Amino acid sequence: MKGKTVYIKTFGCQMNEHDSERMLGILYSMGFNEVDEPKKADIIIFNTCAIREKAEQKFMSSLGRIKHLKRRKPELKIIVAGCSAKLQGERLVNKAPFIDYIIGPDNISILGKIIENNSEEKIFIDENSEIAYFDFPTLRKDNVKAWVNIIYGCNNYCAYCVVPFTRGRERSRPFEKIYNEIKRLGEEGFKEVTLLGQNVNSYQHENIDFPLLLEKISEIEGIERIRFVTSHPKDLSEKLIYVMKNNPKVCEHIHLPLQAGSDRILKLMNRKYSYEEYMRKIQTLRDNIPDIAITSDIIVGFPQESDEDFEKTISALTEIQFDGIFAFKFSARPGTAASKLEGKINEDIKAKRLMEVLKLQDNITESKNKKLEDTIQEILIEGENEEGFTFGRTRTNKIVKLTSHFPSGKIIKVKIKKANRHSLEGIVI
Ligand code: SAH
Ligand code: SF4
Ligand code: F3S
Repeated sequence: MKGKTVYIKTFGCQMNEHDSERMLGILYSMGFNEVDEPKKADIIIFNTCAIREKAEQKFMSSLGRIKHLKRRKPELKIIVAGCSAKLQGERLVNKAPFIDYIIGPDNISILGKIIENNSEEKIFIDENSEIAYFDFPTLRKDNVKAWVNIIYGCNNYCAYCVVPFTRGRERSRPFEKIYNEIKRLGEEGFKEVTLLGQNVNSYQHENIDFPLLLEKISEIEGIERIRFVTSHPKDLSEKLIYVMKNNPKVCEHIHLPLQAGSDRILKLMNRKYSYEEYMRKIQTLRDNIPDIAITSDIIVGFPQESDEDFEKTISALTEIQFDGIFAFKFSARPGTAASKLEGKINEDIKAKRLMEVLKLQDNITESKNKKLEDTIQEILIEGENEEGFTFGRTRTNKIVKLTSHFPSGKIIKVKIKKANRHSLEGIVI
């Protein structure tokens, strides 16, 4: 398939971004090249997200915009992959008959076969156990940092969340596969890996659990920094905190989604921890790793969230002082337990609550960043931003802009001169 081209657009989380790297890897190994405009492509892939209604709407309008291309070029293949593909399946083809293939997150390993055989079958969304074992010829854009999948799917069924329906049952990838991939990345010059999973803390392959996995991969030469997302608070163990504290390669940052401050809402969300239990884990983290950055996710306007419940989220944010958060308005998703709950909150109240949360957190983030002024930080250079500034990240995952130029991949010490809300400015010492 020499000379053929692919355009890919990705929605959603890092998991999806990484799946796109894997799909591109497969197509490149078949002779395809990537192009930056749908009209130049022989294959168009939308790698979709279904987490909130808005994400699906965004994809549907992108899909509408390329419909005419198929009329001009009938041999063009339009592929919808990802979480919305899995969730909507045949319904998507009924809505948009010009789609050639629907490929769920579990089925991207057979993308090559589908294209090669010009498959007559259109829909590939069945659970596919091969995914955890398949060796993808991944095409990574970055050459300093790499994502590595360690666990697929999710068993947690948080009441609001579609992921257990889109990514299937939880499956840990065999240890040897992970180790070999990271070893290769080290040899290729990558400096940082981020281990990916919906709930990395429940990784288990034979006798290797998540803390042991971290220990083992930290022995790999060349890899200087190890990160991971996401940790479910209920499974965050003392053993993991111990490894974070003692292993110099494991970075001092954890993303630990709280979702809400009210125990009543946490229970309705099926999160399986109380605010007090969450707080105890934060305390243990901070007692052991004083400089740790903690970030989180918050949902406002979950069904039945009263003003009083919402105030508990506000006081939680004030008490915990996260380094940063992602906050979302609750969106009812098909098939989830929360979509069937009574007591829906109206959109105006959701919007008001979201604004309040974001405003409060902006101030907290800024004041946390200010405390870093005049401190010395170790940063890993990632490259140049659009304004031409060299930038890198601290071990705590904060972006630092520099005025002098450094090659990407270098680890250097900088002094933080100025803290802004969303970035820091530093000078090399
Ligand atoms: N597995 C990860 C991430 C899941 S999706 C975890 O458990 O944390 C990322 C975030 O999207 C969630 O943490 C949650 O805050 C938000 N989210 C998920 N479903 C949502 C919904 N239906 N409405 C609004 N926000 C949602
Ligand atoms: Fe969704 Fe909960 Fe699983 Fe995260 S842990 S993916 S929020 S069901
Ligand atoms: Fe990620 Fe969206 Fe799927 S957040 S797991 S791409 S629903």
